[in-house]
Amino acid sequence: MGAPKRFVQGRLPGLFLLICGLVFASGCAGRQPTGPAGFPVKDPHSFSRPAEVSVTHLTLLLDVDFETRTIKGEAAWRIRNPGGVRELWLDTRGLTIRRVQLFEDGRISEGSFSLGERKPLLGQSLLVRIEPGTKEVLIAYETTGEADALQWLAARQTAGKKEPFLFTQSQAILARTWLPCQDTPAVRFTYTAAVEVPGSLSAVMSAGRKGDPKELPGGRKRFLFEMPQAIPSYLMALAVGDLGFRPLGRRSGVYAEPAVVESAAWEFADTEKMMEACEELFGPYRWGRYDILVLPPSFPFGGMENPRLTFATPTILAGDRSLVALVAHELAHSWSGNLVTNATWDDFWLNEGFTVYLEHRIMERLYGKEYDEMLARLGLDELSETIQELLEDHPADTHLKLDLDGRDPDDGMTDVAYEKGYFFLRMLEDAFGRERWDIFLRSYFDRFSFQPMTTEGFLAFLDKGLLAGDRTLAKKLRIDEWVYGPGLPANLPLVRSEALKKTAAAAGYFAAGLGAEALKTDGWTTHEWLHFLRHLPAGLAADRLGDLDRVFGLTASKNSEILCQWFLAALPAGYSPVMKPLESFLVNVGRRKFLSPLYRELAKTPGGLKRAREIYARARPGYHPVAIGTLDEILGWKD
Ligand code: BES
Ligand code: ZN
Repeated sequence: MGAPKRFVQGRLPGLFLLICGLVFASGCAGRQPTGPAGFPVKDPHSFSRPAEVSVTHLTLLLDVDFETRTIKGEAAWRIRNPGGVRELWLDTRGLTIRRVQLFEDGRISEGSFSLGERKPLLGQSLLVRIEPGTKEVLIAYETTGEADALQWLAARQTAGKKEPFLFTQSQAILARTWLPCQDTPAVRFTYTAAVEVPGSLSAVMSAGRKGDPKELPGGRKRFLFEMPQAIPSYLMALAVGDLGFRPLGRRSGVYAEPAVVESAAWEFADTEKMMEACEELFGPYRWGRYDILVLPPSFPFGGMENPRLTFATPTILAGDRSLVALVAHELAHSWSGNLVTNATWDDFWLNEGFTVYLEHRIMERLYGKEYDEMLARLGLDELSETIQELLEDHPADTHLKLDLDGRDPDDGMTDVAYEKGYFFLRMLEDAFGRERWDIFLRSYFDRFSFQPMTTEGFLAFLDKGLLAGDRTLAKKLRIDEWVYGPGLPANLPLVRSEALKKTAAAAGYFAAGLGAEALKTDGWTTHEWLHFLRHLPAGLAADRLGDLDRVFGLTASKNSEILCQWFLAALPAGYSPVMKPLESFLVNVGRRKFLSPLYRELAKTPGGLKRAREIYARARPGYHPVAIGTLDEILGWKD
């Protein structure tokens, strides 16, 4: 193929000019990849050696080609090389590297590079030989079919059915599949990007948009972006599609396909209020705008905290705002995670546990203590289940501090980081009192903003601050047990929800034979329904589920959470009217949190494994690589 080569060679002067114009104008550089209290940071999931050379700014040109489903890229990395070493190590996976050039004081020269041995998860190192004076390293590359961060959607997989769609999902270690980079959360960089797409589509990134898109010859358009705040690679994000926009507040808005954007704007009406609550609690929002992008239903997660632009699943558009805790969560990451960032994936709980804690504070502030306590209770129930399962085979995965060396970081991304992390912080809040705790929390975000944080760094800050070196108190609070021990320590905070107690009791009455019509469900929120469904015993007969369905129309529910939980209750009972709707849910929705338990439950039913595999065969081409990885394993699928 001659075209890509021409593209690459023809475009490098353009990139050169862009670098001269933009890179040196940019002020905010990335920071040193050492932990805050001088802790060395060794990331087992990256080939990079940022303690020697670290990248500080990226100038990126991307050409998005929906025909070949590839991105052609030119990445210019500005580097910091205090020791004057001669090697720059980057991460790649499934990238074709076309050419490397070095840039130094206005001179550009050909660079030599080599790709290391291919590792299944980590991909290949890219070693670039540099000079001590090299300022910038330019890499021309292309993505391949192995780019697991990317999902290319055909028009029929979108709401509008007319235009294709592309989105990225870089966390945890997938940025390297669409960008050669130092793919460790300990390294941060600013970026500017120019993205070329078909003229009928729009591009958005985890960055600010610069000016209006420019029409190009050949019916294409170029969008410019600028990200003045330094971010780690896992927060690099791009989406391209037919996008509409509605403002939500003075600095927030929502992007979605035109058919979805109105209902999304209605659902997220409280976003600005959430931002205000966050700022009061945790300090200023440091990212300029906060927008939400609602993706097509194949998005494998609930949400992803890409800076300035949260990516969200459309399955939270319940029509009653009952699932907006997800927005609170992703917004909260603007402090925990995006501002103070886990140094390695072993410290993942620093991102997610803190974020769940912040999420609850936001929900409490906006919707009251009782409502939030209901959410906390649901979280605790799920955590207890996860811990019970993990304690059997992988007890170390119930520690907050993980050891994921040699493993997929995905293995560590369980409720433990989220919910055990949350309860640990809630325990600390209870111990020190909200007033002192809040001052501490805020100082943590201020002191370590735009820096990586290790678990030990946080513990040292806690020790210096609230604990004031009191070892007896640390012992009494069982801090080491929480962080480095299995299961749930004895000082787990109590979570009481009267509302949920009533719904669990209702499930008990129903299980004991009470008819569905006699149940008192008036005023139940989504969360009460979920709790009720989770408390139904496994051995219920199909006609009892039929009774529930007749009275409450559960199979027809438009609420994805309720529907999923209903399917999970109906499958073991052999309640067959759910089968068709279940099948269409599995084919149309790509959110892994729903798919994994549903396929698992389906496979357990008589003849279910065969059925599950048949459905999977149809649905698989529409799933994101991240979901495919998990589901192949669950269903023993060999491609
Ligand atoms: N950052 C996570 C999503 C993630 C984690 C992606 C690890 C890849 C690897 C995001 O903030 C998140 O936690 N999303 C949750 C929703 C949230 C409300 C708990 C999800 O997607 O389910
Ligand atoms: Zn999160």
